[in-house]
Amino acid sequence: MKVKISVHRDFTISPIDERLYSAFIEHMGRAIYGGIYDPGHPQADEQGFRKDVLKFVQDLNIPAIRYPGGNFVSAYRWEDGVGPRETRPVRLDLAWRCTETNQIGINEFADWAKLAGIDMMLAVNLGTRGLDDARNFLEYVNFPSGTALSDLRRSHGKTEPHNVKLWCLGNEMDGPWQTGHKVAVEYGRLANETAKAFKSFDPSIKTIVCGSSNDEMPTYPEWEREVLEESYENVDYISLHKYFENYERNTLNFFGKIEETGRYIQAISGTIDYIKAKKRAKNDVFICFDEWNVWYHQREKDNRRITEWDWPEAPALLEETYNFEDALFVAGLLNEFIRRSDRVKIACIAQLVNVIAPIRAEKEGPAWRQSIYHPYRLVALYGRGEALRTAVDAPTYNCAAADQVSYLDVASVYNREKNTLTFFIINRHLSETAELEINLTGFPEPCLSEHLAMEGYDLQATNSAQNPDHIRPKPGENVVVDESGSVRGILAPLSYHVLRLS
Ligand code: AHR
Repeated sequence: MKVKISVHRDFTISPIDERLYSAFIEHMGRAIYGGIYDPGHPQADEQGFRKDVLKFVQDLNIPAIRYPGGNFVSAYRWEDGVGPRETRPVRLDLAWRCTETNQIGINEFADWAKLAGIDMMLAVNLGTRGLDDARNFLEYVNFPSGTALSDLRRSHGKTEPHNVKLWCLGNEMDGPWQTGHKVAVEYGRLANETAKAFKSFDPSIKTIVCGSSNDEMPTYPEWEREVLEESYENVDYISLHKYFENYERNTLNFFGKIEETGRYIQAISGTIDYIKAKKRAKNDVFICFDEWNVWYHQREKDNRRITEWDWPEAPALLEETYNFEDALFVAGLLNEFIRRSDRVKIACIAQLVNVIAPIRAEKEGPAWRQSIYHPYRLVALYGRGEALRTAVDAPTYNCAAADQVSYLDVASVYNREKNTLTFFIINRHLSETAELEINLTGFPEPCLSEHLAMEGYDLQATNSAQNPDHIRPKPGENVVVDESGSVRGILAPLSYHVLRLS
């Protein structure tokens, strides 16, 4: 098939907020215990953090990380995780029916995030707790000294405040599974009062209110309208969550779910605009897509195990092994976030280590990178700058998830400072190569400085501890810049390409 892409240097969508490439990690399964922290492991440093995991995290260049949950946060007592380790209580984690030892709390996590070079984005418990505990947590975390809670932190060895600027007001509060689930108005009022208190503590704090748990919830999108009616003026972002599956093994329909996600973002953008107009508000609210990933390979099995087990400590849970199809999907979803970067300012891959994660840490073995690690890393590395409007002329298909889905999925990012233009391209056709032509306006004498490709794998192929680098980007072939300055090439079916021009 013939495909044509056109971009103009000055036709931009938006500057990209680098926090589009953020991550999420929760106290669950082997994400924290046995993931980032495993004091008995040969790779552990003096604090018990796994150095091999940390290295893979550092390579991802992640700007912010959401912590400590997830469903876990809705019954979490932050005080349990501070102070001398030997006196910390062991608690029941109601969300995952596990035992929480509290050996990692806010101060240890802050140490790890610092080593990883990532800013923390903290969630407060608005399930079993409320405004008072949330503001106490904020004081403990952010106030310098001279108050009961800031001095308590200092007595725990943290003389400097953590200075966290991004705060999530609970988690998935629309979900009946959530401990302390609420109806929209009830939650909206609590979120508003909490956000107001946080901003009176420090007006530079940004707050994230919970949107729906996904776009299939029965209360979606009325939930967003009602919650924003209550809280619009005091919040900066509204969260979106969505997990993806391909139970039917219908690859094209799976990819079509990326367009479906675009509609989800569009619907919430419209809801935000409606409330802003209705309230005659001056402030803007953006989207924080703070949980997204593929999640289905282990899901049904895990759902059963959770109901049967007897409160284990850090069990293997949600340990999805991702295949090449998932890598192509993740690449496409990241493209969608770039294309919607005028509204989506923050997005967090869920999660980071072991639990539905790009990084796996074997219990007594090595850490390794899953297939999805690679597109995530490439976009986090090169997707910084301005998103350009990208005209794509390519054949389309219809599927259950969406109509008119382009076989060619493209996002382009221009970095004015470095004068580099990067294309992220997926040929989603199952069998046809794409004869590519890219026309550039405003880029005199372009030169192809790098071409990386992920191609030629079976869709079901995976990496593993034994074969950790089977799926990975390699130098691409068959793409050149011709004498007229157009980019031309041949892209294999089911392939991912990163083309960097300077
Ligand atoms: O990421 C796993 C879970 O998915 C989170 O705890 C919850 O917020 C979502 O339902």
